[in-house]
Amino acid sequence: MAKKSQATWGGRFTAGPADLMLKFSESVSFDHRLAPFDIAGSKAHSAMLAHVGLITAKERDSIHSGLDAILAQIAAGKFTWSTQLEDVHMNIEQALTKNVPAAAKLHTARSRNDQVATDMRLWFKHACAVLADKILGAQRAILSVAKRDGDVLIPGYTHLQRAQPVFLSHHLFAYLEMLERDRARFVEVADHANWCPLGSGAIAGTTLPIDREFTAKQLGFVDAKGRPRVTQNSMDTVADRDLFIEFATACALFGVHMSRIAEDLIIWSSVEFKFIDLPDTFCTGSSLMPQKKNPDSCELLRGKSARLQGNLHTLFVLTKGLPLTYNRDLQEDKPPVFDSFDQTALSADVLAGTIEGLTVFRARCAEAVADPALLATDLADYLVDRGVPFREAHHAVGSVVKLAETLKLPLDKLPTAEVKKIHAGYGDDWAVVFDLKRAMEKRRGTGMPGPAQVKKQFARWAKVLG
Ligand code: ARG
Repeated sequence: MAKKSQATWGGRFTAGPADLMLKFSESVSFDHRLAPFDIAGSKAHSAMLAHVGLITAKERDSIHSGLDAILAQIAAGKFTWSTQLEDVHMNIEQALTKNVPAAAKLHTARSRNDQVATDMRLWFKHACAVLADKILGAQRAILSVAKRDGDVLIPGYTHLQRAQPVFLSHHLFAYLEMLERDRARFVEVADHANWCPLGSGAIAGTTLPIDREFTAKQLGFVDAKGRPRVTQNSMDTVADRDLFIEFATACALFGVHMSRIAEDLIIWSSVEFKFIDLPDTFCTGSSLMPQKKNPDSCELLRGKSARLQGNLHTLFVLTKGLPLTYNRDLQEDKPPVFDSFDQTALSADVLAGTIEGLTVFRARCAEAVADPALLATDLADYLVDRGVPFREAHHAVGSVVKLAETLKLPLDKLPTAEVKKIHAGYGDDWAVVFDLKRAMEKRRGTGMPGPAQVKKQFARWAKVLG
């Protein structure tokens, strides 16, 4: 069924789009969330048009107050979005035109191509700030657990086999490092977003005497010194979707980190480990097995991370074969980034809540870390200290481990006489290494899990996280 042609672009059409086409091509159902950014862009653009004399100050003012009224209407949930009008840009422009005659001049020297690029850059700056802040929240939750229970020792794992003892705080600080990189990544993406597209037009700018720098300044697309930042090639500006991919990458990588943290928590909370108990408020039960308490928040964090990677992949595939410049395919760029934002924001909060509420079972941790085999490497270092080449020392300790297995004795309980038979490097004091306190204190270098280093890192994180 053909409708009367669209007011915004219908001049050369005899028939408007079929209902099916309208349903297929509308984006307002998801891009309406760009409204505040679209309105900010239109206000800046009209201010610039007045600044260069393309519209009068009066016309600018009527456009501004009309846009403010629409924004208030949207905020109050009283604005009627119409899929007939395709997208957020045309919905707002049409609503404005109804009340403000000067609105017919608003789209002077502008295309929806540079308009949507502007809206999205403003949105990315906002979204990155929100997510960076949420990551900070998760980091603070981790730091609070480190403050509470960071003095507990646990086995660190490689290959999910007990490896060497570490303070729980050292393990938690590893999370802080991961999340700090994520936070920095969002700050960087926001910086990449900080270039103003307006003035690029549909593809080749405009013949009208606009002032791009003025618009950029109005919208806060400025460098640290307040100098305007405008994009440098009109074609690249409307074709480029790098930011979408960078943003989705930052979300996906943060998702991977959350997933790995979640996996640790799942393992630690199992009966087999029982290092921690997860908060009831972030777990669920089984409809069949009354005893069950399932780590659902952690499992969903793992699950959501798959979705974040899927969104990134969608954007890669969406853009890879497109000729320059804008193609309508690019309208499909928004659902994945909006979904990545929503899910990442939610996940960060859930991660914070889950971690904040966990209980550390100190006795179970102490029991696990008391395993003397965790200090086998320290025994090799003992031999190295006594002049044995490391490769030989490693072998000599391996033989001691083997002997312990054969005699079914803990490593530190082997008869000294038997140990000394294995290698001449072993002295009567060979078992001094099986003292956890001593073992930890010896790990003094930067980045190591010794108490002095952990203390340093505590101070560092307290400062960084505020
Ligand atoms: N809704 C469109 C999008 O998001 C806006 C740009 C439309 N441009 C065009 N030439 N049809 O991609």
